Amino acid sequence: MIAIAHTVKEARKYITEWKKQGLSIGLVPTMGYLHEGHMSLVKRARQENGKVVVSVFVNPMQFSPNEDLDQYPRDFDADTRLCHENGVDLILHPEPPEMYPDGFCSFVDMTGPTAELCGKSRPIHFRGVCTVVNKLFNIVQPDRAYFGQKDAQQLAVIRRMVCDLNMSIEIVGCPIIREEDGLARSSRNKYLNEEERKAALILSRSVFLGKEMAEEGEKDARKICLAMRRLIETEPLARVDYVEAVDFSTIQKVDAVQGETLFAIAVYIGKTRLIDNFIVKAIS
Ligand code: PAJ
Repeated sequence: MIAIAHTVKEARKYITEWKKQGLSIGLVPTMGYLHEGHMSLVKRARQENGKVVVSVFVNPMQFSPNEDLDQYPRDFDADTRLCHENGVDLILHPEPPEMYPDGFCSFVDMTGPTAELCGKSRPIHFRGVCTVVNKLFNIVQPDRAYFGQKDAQQLAVIRRMVCDLNMSIEIVGCPIIREEDGLARSSRNKYLNEEERKAALILSRSVFLGKEMAEEGEKDARKICLAMRRLIETEPLARVDYVEAVDFSTIQKVDAVQGETLFAIAVYIGKTRLIDNFIVKAIS
């Protein structure tokens, strides 16, 4: 039977017991409204750990006041069913006051990898992500934690944090799961109306175009980004936030494909901001 903990104290009861039994713990942090993308992380965690914990928490700290915190979709019953079907042992589902009680004033912040890409249009976002993920790590004490390449900058940021702060947690990156027509799965796809849903395909089409250029040997990252941007601009409902090539570990801009290069895009479709990306490994 799947267990549900609403408080840190309840979660710790399970964790302590499992640690006593010598079981390894895999953590999948999420904001809920779960879909196949999240479940791919859960399946991987299920294969590699004795116990699997999924956290479902829409973290207010990572949303700016003008963002979609209030509209962010929630369906905890459906989330519970999916987790149950996929063999999750515990869902941690706290309310904001449990995570941020009165007087809360400690934060985990980062320079470097948070300055580019989403860090530019969402200046407080990664401080919120790092702080909440740190708290989740301290509550659940996982051996491994699972993050999707869908949010590639977030994955790089978490890897950096774990390295810089000497956390003994293995960070496992998992590939992007897409709808049949190519659109990357995202809880925010729910915001799209029928027309916007069609227009949103311009993101994956531009990712596939860039990937093909890189795979055919194009080394000039600027040329690839320009071709991707031009394609996105053919879609009237789309407005580019960024199309950038960066080093996947430092998230600093690069002009040429070298090492592991992340090509990342953020595009508004109507009012909805969507992201997508691909990573190329240069053959040296
Ligand atoms: P959320 O957007 O719910 O995503 C939770 C995890 O699922 C992230 O690691 C994300 O990269 C992964 N994911 C989402 N869609 C995916 C897809 N289509 N394919 C593969 N993986 C996918 O990311 C967050 O929540 C939050 O920032 C969080 C880390 C929980 C901190 O609040």
